[in-house]
Order: sequence, then C-alpha cells, then structure tokens
Amino acid sequence: MIKGANDAPWTSNMRNSTVIFILSVTLVSILDAQSTCPARCLCYLDRLPRTIACSKQGLQEYPAGISDIVQHLDLSGNSLQEIPEHVNSLVDLQYLNLARNQLTALPSDLRGLKKLQMLDLTENNLKSVKDIAAISHLVNLKILHLSKNSIEELTSLSNNRTQSLYANHCSIKELNSLSLSGLPALNLLSLSGNPLRVVLRPTSDSLRWLDLSNCLINYLNPDTFERLTSLEELRLANNPTLVYSTRYETLQHINLKRLDVSRCNLDRPGLHGFPALTHAKLSRNIIRILPDRIFAKNRELLQLYLDANGLDSLNKSSFAGLTKLEILDLSANALQEVHWSTFNENIKLHRLNLSYNGLHEFPNLTTEAIWLDMSTNLIYNFKSNVLSNMPRLVTLNLNNNRLENIPNNLESNTLKNLFLRQNRLVQLNNESFVRLSALRNLDLSGNRLTEGIDPDLFWNNKFLQAIQLEDNPWRCDCEQLYPTYKYFMESQATDRTWGLVLISLLTMVILFGSVVSLRHAMKMKRHARLERQELERAEARERLRLLQRRNQRLEEELLEQTAEPRIHPLELIQPPTYDEAVDMPRLAHSMEALDTMSMDNMSIQAIGSVDNLRSKKRRPRRARKRSQSEDNLARREERREERRRRRLSLERNNSTSVLSETNQLEESSQLTESNAEIAIKETERTRSRARSICEDGDRTKIKPRPQTPSARKKKRRAMARNGHSTDDEDSELDQLSTRLNNKSNSSIIIKKLTREPRSGRRPSPQESDF
Ligand SMILES: *[C@@H]1O[C@H](CO)[C@@H](O)[C@H](O)[C@H]1NC(C)=O
Ligand SMILES: *[C@@H]1O[C@H](CO)[C@@H](O)[C@H](O)[C@H]1NC(C)=O
Ligand SMILES: *[C@@H]1O[C@H](CO)[C@@H](O)[C@H](O)[C@H]1NC(C)=O
Ligand SMILES: *[C@@H]1O[C@H](CO)[C@@H](O)[C@H](O)[C@H]1NC(C)=O
Ligand SMILES: *[C@@H]1O[C@H](CO)[C@@H](O)[C@H](O)[C@H]1NC(C)=O
Repeated sequence: MIKGANDAPWTSNMRNSTVIFILSVTLVSILDAQSTCPARCLCYLDRLPRTIACSKQGLQEYPAGISDIVQHLDLSGNSLQEIPEHVNSLVDLQYLNLARNQLTALPSDLRGLKKLQMLDLTENNLKSVKDIAAISHLVNLKILHLSKNSIEELTSLSNNRTQSLYANHCSIKELNSLSLSGLPALNLLSLSGNPLRVVLRPTSDSLRWLDLSNCLINYLNPDTFERLTSLEELRLANNPTLVYSTRYETLQHINLKRLDVSRCNLDRPGLHGFPALTHAKLSRNIIRILPDRIFAKNRELLQLYLDANGLDSLNKSSFAGLTKLEILDLSANALQEVHWSTFNENIKLHRLNLSYNGLHEFPNLTTEAIWLDMSTNLIYNFKSNVLSNMPRLVTLNLNNNRLENIPNNLESNTLKNLFLRQNRLVQLNNESFVRLSALRNLDLSGNRLTEGIDPDLFWNNKFLQAIQLEDNPWRCDCEQLYPTYKYFMESQATDRTWGLVLISLLTMVILFGSVVSLRHAMKMKRHARLERQELERAEARERLRLLQRRNQRLEEELLEQTAEPRIHPLELIQPPTYDEAVDMPRLAHSMEALDTMSMDNMSIQAIGSVDNLRSKKRRPRRARKRSQSEDNLARREERREERRRRRLSLERNNSTSVLSETNQLEESSQLTESNAEIAIKETERTRSRARSICEDGDRTKIKPRPQTPSARKKKRRAMARNGHSTDDEDSELDQLSTRLNNKSNSSIIIKKLTREPRSGRRPSPQESDF
C-alpha cells in the first residue's frame, strides 16, 4: 500500500533512530491514507461509516485510488458515463450514490459488492432495466433508486433482497402482473409521476406501500389490487381523472389501511370496499353529497379528510357508524348549516374541522370533539348554550367570523383555548367568561375593542395564562387601560406568551399614549413653573416682613437719637467736596413719590447702592450747573436761611407728630404684610396689587453689589446717622408711605412738610418757585 515516492525520505530517517521510525510510520500511514484519497474528493476513512465524498466535482471518469475500505461512496452530481469493473474491489461498500450522472449502464458484473445495501441511480441516462441487470448480483441490496430515468417497464428487474424501489418520474406506462415478479421482497414501490395509465393486477405478496400518485390513471377496476395481498397504503393522489367507484361497483381491498385519493375526480367517497381502512384522504375532489350512512362499512376509520369538496350539506346520519373516528376535516366546503346530531355517533372524535365554510350560526352540535375549528365562516350568532353538548371541548377556534358579541353564561368546564381573532367584537360582556372555568388562552386580537378590559371579567378564570389583545382600536387613555395593565402585571400566571402579551400591550400603551403623556408632561412643567413662582413670591413676602421689622426697629432707634447735622445741597455755595457729597441725602424715589414723601422718608440715605453710585457720577455735572448760576447765589443764601429757620420750627412743632407717624408706619407695615398675603392668595382678583408686591419681591431679590470693608463701615455709619439702611428698604418704605398717605389721618402730617430737594435730582417745578 505504501507508495515508493513516499517511501524514500522516510527510510533514511529510519536509520537514525527508532523514535523517528515510529513517528515516520505514523506519518506514513496518514500520508498513505491521504494518498488513497482521490483528487477532488473528501475522505473520512478514520471514522464510521468510512466515507469518500466526491459529489459535484465535475468528474468525467470514475476516480482512481478509491480506498477499498470505503463504506459510503458518493459520486453524485458528476459527469460519469460508466463505472469500471474494478468497482468490485470495494468489498465493504454499503452505500453507493451515482445519482445525477450520465450513466447508461452498470458493469455486467457486480458480484464484488456483497455488502451494498443502497444504490442510487436517480437521474441518469438509463433506458432500460436490462442495462442494469447486474443489480441481481447485489445480494444485500435493500433500496434501489431509479427515479428520473427513461425506464419504461420494471419487468426484468430482479433482486431477491430489494425492499424499496423508487422509480418516480420515469416513463413507466403500465403496471401488470409481471412487473414485480423479479422483486420478491419488495415492500415499497413508488411510481409517482409516471405516465401510468394501465394498472392490471400487479402481483406481490410482500408489497405494502404503493405510490401511484401524480400519474394518469383513469379508472381502477374493483379487483385491481387484489393480488397485492399485503397492501396497506395506497397513494393515488393527483390522478386528475381518476374514478374508482361507480353506482354499481367500487375498488376493493380487504387489508388496505390508508388511502390517499386527494385531487382526483371522485364524485363519491366509495370507501365501502375498504373495510380495514383507518385513514382516508379524499380532499379536493368533487364530492357534493354524503348520503346517510355512507361510511357505515368503514368501522375502523380514524381519520377522514373531506376538505375542499364542495359539500353543501350534510345529512344528519352522514357519519353514522364511524365510532372510532378521531379526525374529521370538513373544511373548505360550502356548508351553511350542520345538523346538531351529525356527529352524534362519532364518540371518539378528537378534531372536527369546519373552517372555511359558509356557516352563519354556531351550530348546536352534540359532539365529543376536543378541538373544534370553525374559523373563517360567517358566524355572527352564537347562543349561550352551544357548548353544553360539547363535554370534551378544549379548543374552540372562531377566528375570522363576524361575531359582534360573546353571549353571557357561555358554559364549559373543559374549554381552555378560545380563539376569537378577527371578529367584530366591540365590547366584552361581564359574564361572558365567568363560566369558562378552565380557560387558559384567550385570543381577542383583531377585533373592535376600544375600552380597556375590566379585570373583573376574569374573576372566575383562575387558569388564565394569556390574552391576545393586539390589533384592536383601543382608546388610548392611560386611565382606562391602566387597570388592565395592572391586572396583567399582578397576575400570578406568568409564562412566555404572557410576556408577549404584556409586551404588546406595553408597546401599544407606549405608542398610543406617548402623545397623551407628552401633553401631560408639558402641563406638569407649567404647573411646576407656577409653583416655583409661588415659592419665590412667598420668599419675597418673607423678606419684606423681615425688612419691615428691621425698619421698625431702626425707626425706634432713630427716635432715641438726636439728628446729626447734615449737609444739604442747598447749603452749599461751592460745588460739594467728596465727603460732602457722600453725606448728602439721596433721592431714590420718583418725582411723584416726592409729593407724598414724609419727613422721615426724605432723610433716607444709602451708601454704596446703585442709585447712589449713579448720583455720584452725575454730581459733577450738577455742580457745574449750579456754578453757572452764580448770579443767583445771594438769593439762594437768603432762601437757605429762611428754610433753615422754617425747618427748625417745624421740627420743634412736629416732634410729637413724628412719633405718631412712626406708630402709624408700624401699624401700616403689618397691614401691608397681610395685604400682600391676601394679594398672593387671590392672584386673580387682585392681580395688579399682587404684581406690584411681586415686583417688590423681585427688587429685593437683586443682590447688592459686594461691598468693600470700608464701604460697609461707611454704610454702618450712614445707617446710624440716618436711621435707614439700603435703598431696597427705601423703595419698600416708598410704597409704605404711599399707602400711608392714602390714609386720611397720616396725610395731615405729610402735607405740612416741606419737600427737600436731594442731591442728584433736578428740583421739582414747585421747588423752582422758591
Ligand atoms: C433468488 O431466489 C431464488 C429462490 O428464492 C433463487 O432461485 C434465485 O437464484 C435467487 N436469485 C439470485 C440472483 O440470487
Ligand atoms: C338525508 O336524510 C333524509 C332524511 O333523514 C333523507 O330523506 C335523504 O334521502 C337523505 N339524503 C341523502 C342524500 O341520503
Ligand atoms: C382546518 O382546516 C384548515 C384548512 O383546511 C386548516 O388550515 C386548519 O389548520 C385545520 N384545522 C385543524 C384544527 O386541523
Ligand atoms: C340544541 O340541541 C339540543 C339537543 O342536543 C336540542 O334539544 C335543542 O333543541 C337544540 N337547540 C337548537 C336551538 O337547535
Ligand atoms: C354585569 O353588568 C351589569 C350591567 O352592565 C350589572 O347589572 C351586573 O351586575 C354585572 N354582573 C356582574 C357579575 O358583574
């Protein structure tokens, strides 16, 4: 087996050491194994079954060097035209695939392939079984594929062991008594897709499975399969013109168990010749009527398919005698009604299919069915007692009907799955499911439900696991869907379907509710903003109160102090020095406020405030103006003297009234405080008032400029001197005094006062009259 070419290098290594020798032997054996693998093939000889695969390699010739130990050899999909005789050396070969080549014959001797069990000659150029006569030498051949060859008959094919023969899509036109004579062990024969017309009593004692579908069989005599004594399954599907039953005679076979005659030309079932029949497929024929007791002889029948036949009515005893029937398919017919006792005798019925019919009402059936399919009908009506005679019903499919409501008190102790997809349900009745105590799955998708599902509907459905709700025009209102959602979330039953339902519901809520929630969020935002404003206002109010309290205190202090002399602008003859300017009183009020300013308020002064700085800046200009009017100096001097005198007398006279005024101020500050509160509470009614107060608050909010220590010192000094602190307080007091003035008793005092022009302000018109 070792080839010389590989030998030479390794023999030289052998001399060096035994270790290398052993190694080399191993390598040689590997190389040897590979060397026996033909070009363009894959070899798997180190495992069972030992396989060489050379499929679809474009091989023109049988590849050389195929190891004798091969068990499975795949040469399919090549262009082989012949197989050489030396294929007989493959003594272990069990499986030989020669499909889709161009073979016209096999070697005349195949005796060497003693273990060959399966030979696939599908889709070659075999013209006749005579060209493959050597098959008879294959003493172990069990399965033979001859499909898609131009073989016209099987008569001379012989093999004592062959059990299965596939000769589909060949050119076989006739099956007669000699056809199977060379295949005594044949079990299965598939002749589907042949131009077979004539079937004349084929003979085989072993054949159990015969497929004659997709042929051209026209008529079958009653005794056609008489000599296939062991036949159990017969497939005759899609013989478009096939008829085997007339009024007088019908095909017969006493052992036949399974018959498929779908897509033929039967106008009646004709099953009475098959007493052992268990499975009958009569789909897609033209059976229009089912007379009473027509299946009475098929006592063994388990499955009967009569779908797509054009049945427009069932007699109430059509299925009588079918006591073992388990599956009855009557779908895709033209049934408009079904008598309630039609399935009375089918006591073993498991699955009853009435889908794709024209039923208008849910039939009042008495049936043992476990699975009842009535989908795709025209059912619009449905009575509450319809399930009462279905003692074993577990699944009821009513998808694709026209139901607009589910009746109350629908009762079943066994129903687990209720499918109501694609109906016209608008609302769920609060008693619809109460008596369906075993309900597990409920499909309500594709209906017209708009209202969230009331969890109370299911109070008695303890086993409920899944409710399908998608594809309904839910009114997407979180408020009404939330109870449903909550019910689903809290429910103990949780499985994957449940999760899916939840996810779909959630997606729905999220999608449809997003708009609503967005709007809600915006509303909340607005609300928060209002609240914040409210808070700020409250803060302002608080600050105001503190301020007023401080003012009060300061005023009290003021009363105790003797007023320090201060410089009045009009006392100046020259422009003021810096210190003088600093000590000058400052005007922080509007001209209108001046009219109502009290004596005390006029003396308010602040240092380091914005207004003050502004006035400082302006001061030089003022001074210049004053200096320009130097010709009036003498007159001014006179006026000043006069005023001083007047003021002195006034102060003397009003020292008591100042006191009373302070009390007044105190009182009114309290008044203002409560006023502010009321104003804020009743924002709508007293909006203007509230706004003015708010503005006050805002003004107090403005942080004073950071003060230098010296400025602070100065300020303290000024406060001590003047009795007032900042211009903010000033403005507060401004208002206070305005209010104060509105009171008749305080106005008396104020009217008596002469106004004092302050620095940084132009004299008012009245003043210029002086
Ligand atoms: C097949 O079996 C029959 C007897 O059963 C025998 O006479 C015949 O020679 C066998 N043929 C082959 C090819 O072995
Ligand atoms: C259907 O049943 C009625 C009475 O049960 C009978 O008169 C009629 O002939 C039956 N039809 C067929 C086709 O058997
Ligand atoms: C009933 O028949 C229809 C159509 O023939 C089919 O789609 C459906 O799956 C069948 N139902 C059952 C429960 O077998
Ligand atoms: C329903 O079937 C029962 C027998 O099971 C029968 O007595 C009753 O009259 C039927 N009801 C209708 C409305 O057909
Ligand atoms: C069902 O609803 C009706 C009114 O819509 C009410 O009278 C009845 O009590 C409800 N039944 C149950 C079981 O909730």
